[in-house]
Amino acid sequence: MDENTAQTQDSTAARADAPDLAAVRVAVIGAGNMGGPVAATLIEAGVRPGHLQIANTSSDSSRRAAEEVGATAADSRDEALAQADVVVLGVKPYQILDLVTELRDRIPADAVVISLAAGITLAQLEDALGEGRAVLRAMPNTPISVGEGAVGLMRGSAVTDAQHQLIHALFARAGVAVDITEDQVHAFIGAAGSLAGFAFAIIEAMTEEAVRQGLTRDLDDSLVQQTMRGAATMLLDSGVHPAVAKAGVCSPGGTTAEGYAALEREGVRAGLAAAMDAAARRSRELTTS
Ligand SMILES: NC(=O)c1ccc[n+]([C@@H]2O[C@H](COP(=O)([O-])OP(=O)(O)OC[C@H]3O[C@@H](n4cnc5c(N)ncnc54)[C@H](OP(=O)(O)O)[C@@H]3O)[C@@H](O)[C@H]2O)c1
Repeated sequence: MDENTAQTQDSTAARADAPDLAAVRVAVIGAGNMGGPVAATLIEAGVRPGHLQIANTSSDSSRRAAEEVGATAADSRDEALAQADVVVLGVKPYQILDLVTELRDRIPADAVVISLAAGITLAQLEDALGEGRAVLRAMPNTPISVGEGAVGLMRGSAVTDAQHQLIHALFARAGVAVDITEDQVHAFIGAAGSLAGFAFAIIEAMTEEAVRQGLTRDLDDSLVQQTMRGAATMLLDSGVHPAVAKAGVCSPGGTTAEGYAALEREGVRAGLAAAMDAAARRSRELTTS
């Protein structure tokens, strides 16, 4: 068998094993700033709009969220949960354990529960849900709303391989979805969760300086944003280490080398490391146990 035939057979087998997302029913309890984009990415992955039911605190809020992400508003949390294969809990961390305790008998026994709550551990969730219930934590960032985000997935002890594969398939259009441990989640917050916010701040600073240097605002918005995206895409597509790419654009005595020296003198590298470290440290502090 030649390599191409083997690859074709492999991908056919993978497709045969792939979960049928059009048949999956999802309940999103709490579709706000983060639950909304998560709902949208699940629909993007192949969940039918009629199979993704949203229940917020009021029917008005459920309807608004459902319209925004192209899903269905449930009349009640019970209606959303009744036939759910997957339950996404997008409420605030301080609410989630009470909510799980309240809903545990109404969540179908074989449903997989996904918690988005920062700082609430799998052990706490498993304790509140009851023994043997499948629960995962998902830590997304907001760029998932444009399919260019990152999701860290933490797998609970009762999650089967098939359920794990299903959850990965559901997050397939989020950008990148990676398995991490609960110990790694703090570093993940610094490297992906809060990093989106740091990137906004860096882009804003560069945009303001470009204006100061005389570029018009509309022009420099697109220049800065497109260049940042292009640099990231080049690294992603090529797999080249950033240090190698950086050396490639630093001609001896040139403009980039001069600017790079200024970055180092001003402590930008140390500042970025400090920001990521502070976010990870705060994440540890906010994790209750
Ligand atoms: N925001 C982020 O960047 C981010 C990143 C990673 C993880 N997270 C996690 O995502 C979770 C949600 O954060 P968020 O920023 O999306 O909060 P949010 O915008 O306030 O959304 C919370 C949603 O939960 C709903 N809700 C509250 N209590 C409810 C209940 N008892 N039953 C049904 N729905 C209820 C609210 O409904 P109403 O609209 O009707 O009030 C709202 O839609 C948090 O646990 C957070 O740790 C957030």
